[in-house]
Amino acid sequence: MNYRKFIAQQVEALKREVGEGIAINALSGGVDSSVVTALAHKALGKQLKTVFVDNALMREGEPQRVVQTFAKLGIPVELIDARRTFLRALKGLTDPEEKRQAITDTFYRDVFSKAVKRSGATYLLHGTILTDIEETVAGIKRQHNILAQLGIDPQKAYGYKVLEPLATLRKDGVRRVAELLGLPRSITARIPFPGPALAARIVGEVTEEKLGIVRAATAIVEQELQNSGAFQYLAVLLNDYATGIRGGKREFGRIIVVRCIDSTDARKATVRELPWKTLHRLTRRITAIPGVNRCLYDLTPKPPATVEYI
Ligand code: XMP
Repeated sequence: MNYRKFIAQQVEALKREVGEGIAINALSGGVDSSVVTALAHKALGKQLKTVFVDNALMREGEPQRVVQTFAKLGIPVELIDARRTFLRALKGLTDPEEKRQAITDTFYRDVFSKAVKRSGATYLLHGTILTDIEETVAGIKRQHNILAQLGIDPQKAYGYKVLEPLATLRKDGVRRVAELLGLPRSITARIPFPGPALAARIVGEVTEEKLGIVRAATAIVEQELQNSGAFQYLAVLLNDYATGIRGGKREFGRIIVVRCIDSTDARKATVRELPWKTLHRLTRRITAIPGVNRCLYDLTPKPPATVEYI
């Protein structure tokens, strides 16, 4: 595919479709939603409203970093602080699917729908890619973003029209378009990060205290493994406690699991054989997080394990 031509065609199509109207999109900082933002800004300028929702589940400094990255490109992004709303919705939930559902529902029903109404937008832009459509149609994945493919008419159901300018691309194509649009490497080369964010890495109930711990561990893992070349690396907080010793005293502390995998498309994954030196350094730093006294390395490939823990 000629990606320059793709960009020109999509810009023209967006201009034609939206006309004098207003379009809105939610940016997550992932490559797909970033490309939609840059592409639509090129086409629509001020007629595009982009929002970034802080759901309390982001990595350290992530909301501010994403907003700043786009500000540097001249693209304004509205940061919506919905931390309380999400934490309230997750309170008491321990079942993985219920947690995921609560995050999706809170995003659409309580937060994004209000932003759409406030903006007066009648077009909603979505970063759906070809793989999402194929996997949803095949029943592998339930993507909430491809209503049309599932026979739901968003114009009838919600009063706005969904546009999916990346629906013919796969991930490699999206990355190529991202580069051509001038998006920085922090976006084009970003490792995968799940929609439910750090909630996918907390076994059991999501609380602010647990988020603080897994966020700190994630920052350490991402820093230590950023040059590993691995497909994905992450930290998980277990729901159990283990006895340990700190300052000469017994302590019942938290357990962090580190995962580092190689994969091409995340459907299957093997575990990276990290050097002992790296593993020891990770352990030393992670057990320095207050309340954490064990660090484990997960040796399980996918299958039978999945990448994330919920
Ligand atoms: P699993 O855990 O299913 O993950 O082996 C496979 C890949 O998908 C990512 N992942 C998600 N990405 N929304 C996403 O956008 C999600 O709900 C989600 N769950 C998992 C995961 O990080 C891995 O790369």
